[in-house]
Amino acid sequence: MNAFSSRDAILTVEDLTKDFGKFRAVDGVDFTVLRSDVMAMIGPNGAGKTTCFNLITGQLKPSAGRVVLRDRDITGRPPHQICHLGIGRTFQTPALFGSMTVVENVQMAMISAEGRLKAMSPRAAKLYREDALALLDEVRVTDKADLPCARLAYGDLRRAELAVALAHGPKLLLMDEPADGIPAPERAAFMEICLELALRGGAAVLFSERDLDMVFHFAGRVVVLDHGQVVAEGSPLEVRDDERVRAAYLGADFSHLQVTDHAARI
Ligand SMILES: Nc1ncnc2c1ncn2[C@@H]1O[C@H](COP(=O)(O)OP(=O)(O)OP(=O)(O)O)[C@@H](O)[C@H]1O
Ligand SMILES: [Mg+2]
Repeated sequence: MNAFSSRDAILTVEDLTKDFGKFRAVDGVDFTVLRSDVMAMIGPNGAGKTTCFNLITGQLKPSAGRVVLRDRDITGRPPHQICHLGIGRTFQTPALFGSMTVVENVQMAMISAEGRLKAMSPRAAKLYREDALALLDEVRVTDKADLPCARLAYGDLRRAELAVALAHGPKLLLMDEPADGIPAPERAAFMEICLELALRGGAAVLFSERDLDMVFHFAGRVVVLDHGQVVAEGSPLEVRDDERVRAAYLGADFSHLQVTDHAARI
């Protein structure tokens, strides 16, 4: 029985399962992302986080289970449809068109959000350029706007990818290890930008992150996977003190981790 009213849910995942041959990578996963949630998905390497994200955003088709966006069943739909219906996504390894410039990547995302087939027309070069530049300013890569993505440093690629993910005004933003590859001193600031832009645009956030200090600082709720199964879901404090979570992390002691109260932000 789901503890939340379906009116509060932006994403409901029910019994989500993925088999790769005989190996079950995701095994009956249930969780709910609420409106305005900043929810972290954590778990040891190979727990199934990226596979879960790929099942939600259509890169993979589930073997069983359901993915519901608000009240619409989106299970097994292709990625472009899911994007159109309101889920933005960044990848564990950034995925952009390397030969196109940064601003063109964002423009392309804006154009396709409008459902236009004009992307290849001569006018496309101008379409949404100002809007795209404004968004790039928010993620602090304006100075790289006219460079091909293939020439960006990793941290800038992450920022550009965030702009692309936000370009169509998603209702839910999924970020798979968003700060991975960003130098340690800049990681928290980048995460602040991600969350501020998403929440300001009215999007809930689901992110995975291996740095637990970041998780407990930024997440309002946490879902924990181990061997493809949910072993805990709750507030950072509940999860931090949960025996099953410690067991999943080989008995690690999390009591030193600072938990930030997010009630004020929402
Ligand atoms: N296409 C695939 N074919 C076969 N096995 C796969 C495939 N994709 C993932 N797996 C396996 O599924 C399991 C879950 O992988 P997944 O990448 O989802 O884990 P993760 O929690 O994202 O790990 P990490 O923290 O390292 O990013 C792993 O054992 C992985 O080897
Ligand atoms: Mg992963």
